[in-house]
Amino acid sequence: MTMKFLKRFTTFTDMNILIKNGTIVTSRNAFNADIYISEGKIVQIRTSLNILEPVDRTIDAKGRFIFPGGIDPHVHMHLPTPAGFSADDFDTGSKAALLGGTTSLLDFVTPQKGQSLIDALIDRKAEANQSLCDYSFHVSPIEWTKSTEQEIKDCIDSGITSFKVYMAYKDSIGLNDDDIFRVMHVVGKNRGMVTLHCENGDEIEKLRNELAVKGKLSPEFHPVSRPAYTESESVQMAIEMAKITKCPIYIVHTSTSESIEIIEKAQKEGYPIYSETCPQYLLLDDSKYNGRFEETCKYVMSPPLRKLEDQLTLWNAISKGIVKTIGTDHCPFNLEQKLKGKNDFRNIPNGAGGVEHRMKLLFTYGVLQNRISYNQFVDITSTQAAKTFGLYPQKGEIAVGSDADLLIWNPKTENEIFVDNHHQNCDLEIYEGFKTIGEPEIVIANGEIKVENNKLVYESKGKFLKRPVK
Ligand code: URP
Ligand code: ZN
Ligand code: ZN
Repeated sequence: MTMKFLKRFTTFTDMNILIKNGTIVTSRNAFNADIYISEGKIVQIRTSLNILEPVDRTIDAKGRFIFPGGIDPHVHMHLPTPAGFSADDFDTGSKAALLGGTTSLLDFVTPQKGQSLIDALIDRKAEANQSLCDYSFHVSPIEWTKSTEQEIKDCIDSGITSFKVYMAYKDSIGLNDDDIFRVMHVVGKNRGMVTLHCENGDEIEKLRNELAVKGKLSPEFHPVSRPAYTESESVQMAIEMAKITKCPIYIVHTSTSESIEIIEKAQKEGYPIYSETCPQYLLLDDSKYNGRFEETCKYVMSPPLRKLEDQLTLWNAISKGIVKTIGTDHCPFNLEQKLKGKNDFRNIPNGAGGVEHRMKLLFTYGVLQNRISYNQFVDITSTQAAKTFGLYPQKGEIAVGSDADLLIWNPKTENEIFVDNHHQNCDLEIYEGFKTIGEPEIVIANGEIKVENNKLVYESKGKFLKRPVK
């Protein structure tokens, strides 16, 4: 037995896979061809491939679509909060992601006060090495010190090119406008990207205090404390700063029609303004805040769920290319954690899960309801995130030389989402009872078959994705 033979059958990493008869869908086109994968990469794409090299596994993808593995550009695994850590860590969260067809994750690095960005990055990488998905981070400066400029440059040298600032959460990780301006100035100068949580923290604090004085402290007042204008005026402010500093910016979890209008205007003027929304803002609305605490608390997230009209605007913004990426803002908490705010919504940890469902929901409620095309589905779930954050064409593409992150997608399978059948490590489910059609029957990541028939079949770890500046 030769060494090569032995190696092939003792590790999956070197598995040579031939996918036959599938319909390959990219962000630009769709065509029938076979794909040969070796050493984690796509090696050949051609009709009726005749492979002379060894093939360990042939997959017949007749009647199936082949999509690039999903990239979720916005997740918070094991996020520390006063109510404890968000319920998924990198191990459980990445497993749920893979089962849903997402093969790469972009999470966050949030330093402690006084800790350097680079030290925080080292700590976070150690946590993330449990991830089964490939991963990278947006790094969050939470204060401006005399060394922040150098720390940002150090992060860029280490393969981190996007930096996240919070205009809300002023009492913990939020930055004031002067410091946001400084971050944009330095990041722009160094050809990086600033991503922003746009909510006017001071105004929200004022509104929350007013509600508290009146004893209005149940979850139904969470959206009242964060009205649409608190988002859109922050979006406007962020864009003005981006124009002056010439820094490309990416507005996370855009949720309102007003914000979309402002973003569209700036894009038309030619500024590099990117915008993301999330499935919860496309599919759920603020009627979810009516009811008993145990039901409504799970929708406490920031920004809050909005009106039905906003959903329509957001779908429209996707189809017009104003919103180019869909993140989940995956940040689940268990009921026990949400109960910390039973008597005061201000103490409910903000966030909900979704990393497992993003692809199925967008396929069902986007593609199958004719809101987006198949190509747009690939674009918003994978290609644009790769392009925006410096991972393209390694990720987000089906091409020779790209990482073999592929979904063999059965477009017919019907499922229903329940807390009892999801794989997210959380006892709450915001999409409870949502029906879906289509699922990733096989998930290949870095050339390894990681999921087959809804089961994780291989648990090798993902890798840190070093990203170059553009
Ligand atoms: O409510 C949310 N979105 N929690 C996670 C943190 C954030 O603001 O993105
Ligand atoms: Zn946020
Ligand atoms: Zn977030």
